Amino acid sequence: MNPLIAIDGPAGSGKSTIARAVATRLGLSHLDTGAMYRAVTLLVLEAALALDDGEGAARLAREMDLECNERVVVNGRDVTAEIRTPAVDGAVSRVAAHPAVRRELVARQREWGRVHGGGVVEGRDIGTVVFPGADLKVYLTADPLERARRREAQLSVGDEQLSSQAVAAELSRRDSLDSSRAASPLLVAEDAVVVDSTHLSVDDVVEEVLSHL
Ligand code: CDP
Repeated sequence: MNPLIAIDGPAGSGKSTIARAVATRLGLSHLDTGAMYRAVTLLVLEAALALDDGEGAARLAREMDLECNERVVVNGRDVTAEIRTPAVDGAVSRVAAHPAVRRELVARQREWGRVHGGGVVEGRDIGTVVFPGADLKVYLTADPLERARRREAQLSVGDEQLSSQAVAAELSRRDSLDSSRAASPLLVAEDAVVVDSTHLSVDDVVEEVLSHL
């Protein structure tokens, strides 16, 4: 049986980079649950459903065929780039707030953990709701300005160009929606190790996480 490592935290805290690096170091599989919420959101936008239509979104979630590995493939279509557009950024927290959507995706996440016998799973509610019995829970955070700076650097690699202010505003809007929603809000699990990565390199954070295992 492999360990199950939960990595939660706000947008831009470096979860994906750290989760991937920890998984590689330990030879474990990695699941980005944010990509799953983004995939449902893309389907909701394409179907032109209202963002407050929780049942409609949940139906799309239940019916979708989803592969979430290096590439994200929904209903046979590679949407790896499309789930990172500003349109999806702007809508994902509203779609992810619907309990019926969460029920479906949480069930798939638990099934992934069972099939892989452990792994590194990143998201917002992994240590609190999805895998409360995880072997290690990490809450990764960083100062909001540093998080906006990192996200901006990521975006400018692609073709999207947003001002620093717009990036910071978008992150803080999503943080407050994710933290204040009724269903599984972003919270620090009681038994999580809190790692503030503001002044740490990726290697430093990976070492710190591994030291708690
Ligand atoms: O990469 P970034 O931190 O920008 O976000 P993400 O991990 O891709 O997650 C996108 C959105 O999905 C979050 O803002 C949450 O609204 C939602 N989410 C969630 O509700 N629960 C999770 N376990 C993961 C993501």
